[in-house]
Amino acid sequence: MPETILEIDALDSFYGDFQALFGVSMQVGKGEVVSVIGANGAGKSTLMRSVTGLLTNRPDMVRFGDAQIGALRADQIARLGIAMVPEGRQLFPSLSVEENLIIGSQVGRPGDWSLSAVYALFPVLAERRNQASTSLSGGQQQMVAIGRALMSNPDLLLFDEISLGLAPIIIKNIYEALPDVIGTGMSAIVVEQDITRAVEISDRVYCLQEGRVSLEGKSGEVSRDAISKAYFGV
Ligand SMILES: Nc1ncnc2c1ncn2[C@@H]1O[C@H](COP(=O)(O)OP(=O)(O)OP(=O)(O)O)[C@@H](O)[C@H]1O
Ligand SMILES: [Mg+2]
Repeated sequence: MPETILEIDALDSFYGDFQALFGVSMQVGKGEVVSVIGANGAGKSTLMRSVTGLLTNRPDMVRFGDAQIGALRADQIARLGIAMVPEGRQLFPSLSVEENLIIGSQVGRPGDWSLSAVYALFPVLAERRNQASTSLSGGQQQMVAIGRALMSNPDLLLFDEISLGLAPIIIKNIYEALPDVIGTGMSAIVVEQDITRAVEISDRVYCLQEGRVSLEGKSGEVSRDAISKAYFGV
């Protein structure tokens, strides 16, 4: 087990009075890829929002390196080095591809990711750099969302269902780019509903069911039966 970079400790998360997460504990090691799987409504996005400060919690429920970040704001957490490719991409429609990418760099973290590095990873974005982000295909928009996150040079990158709504060939392209993205010692949490893909790309896997961790294990060691049971609860 590598040095722990993210430690989630008995996290409860709420939307007003509604409790969406119940005592969720999870660790991510330096350089590790962890996948989070679970059915619709299991709490995957809520977990991502709790780590990135879009939902706030008790300070000690989330630790990143030496910092207690559970109660910090999203902009503070981004500056510490956590970035997210959010569900639904959430690009700025009135801005160009390049302007959307530059927004990621405004966090002000130094590192190897720059416009040219993102364009080298996804050459099609260089061709479309001056186009409105809304004129791109779904897959290209997803590349912009990934590029924008990389532009903040994060130490931990969260992907929330990057394959949602994309054609299989595009999903394959994007997942083929991931090792280059993560290979530089970055850690990642990948939320994915496709169990096979989730197991393939990760070192360890967590299953969420109705706001609780129903299974955790090394990706090479957990059986399909155990995952199905933890996923569907049957
Ligand atoms: N903004 C919100 N306000 C109130 N309840 C919410 C909100 N967002 C999510 N929830 C509820 O919290 C629970 C967890 O939702 P969440 O979006 O985290 O699930 P998910 O695992 O990401 O699902 P999906 O696979 O559909 O994206 C669900 O019961 C959902 O209805
Ligand atoms: Mg979700």
